[in-house]
Amino acid sequence: MKIVFATNNKHKLDEIRSILGSRFEILSLNDIGCHVDIPETANTLEGNAIQKARYIVDNYGYDCFADDTGLEVPSLGGEPGVHSARYAEGTDHNSEANMQKLLRCLAGKDDRRAQFRTVICLARKEDVADYTLFEGIVKGTIAKEKQGTEGFGYDPIFVPEGYNESFAQLGMDIKNGISHRARAVEKLARYL
Ligand code: IMP
Repeated sequence: MKIVFATNNKHKLDEIRSILGSRFEILSLNDIGCHVDIPETANTLEGNAIQKARYIVDNYGYDCFADDTGLEVPSLGGEPGVHSARYAEGTDHNSEANMQKLLRCLAGKDDRRAQFRTVICLARKEDVADYTLFEGIVKGTIAKEKQGTEGFGYDPIFVPEGYNESFAQLGMDIKNGISHRARAVEKLARYL
């Protein structure tokens, strides 16, 4: 069964294909010739995931799922949250600047708890204007400095609960077993 994952992020595609690849043919946005910036203007993870998945169904006619992820830090009122990609002012997906800002904001704070939360929206062409949501969460803490080189985004400063190393040190195999996205995708897979 073919299904579009509304991303061109190679890390995410690898992660998702290693979980769902044997059961589904996962197409990227490039694979379906979608080269536009899909609107992501909602102020919640749920809203953005719905917006992206419905855009593909409505404009390209494929079944589609889309994800939106935020790193939620309680001692910062849930920030960066839905703003995770553009947390550092004037940037877009600049992981280095985003991590440095987060480390600065947490400097001197004892409570360094954080969680990654992924929301996946599945939208299908036969269900006009309908969708289903799946959530995955991994809890952890923000390290005092960057550790490790694997992964992407905030991985070098996120230490998942039960481990002493960051996602960037633990590597793909362990991350894929416990990550926010993996947990949301497992729910999606069971549903499908
Ligand atoms: P997106 O919604 O997946 O694009 O994620 C928003 C922001 O969160 C981006 O800046 C990503 O770098 C970051 N992010 C998403 N997933 C992960 C992850 O698995 N590890 C580290 N950072 C992530």
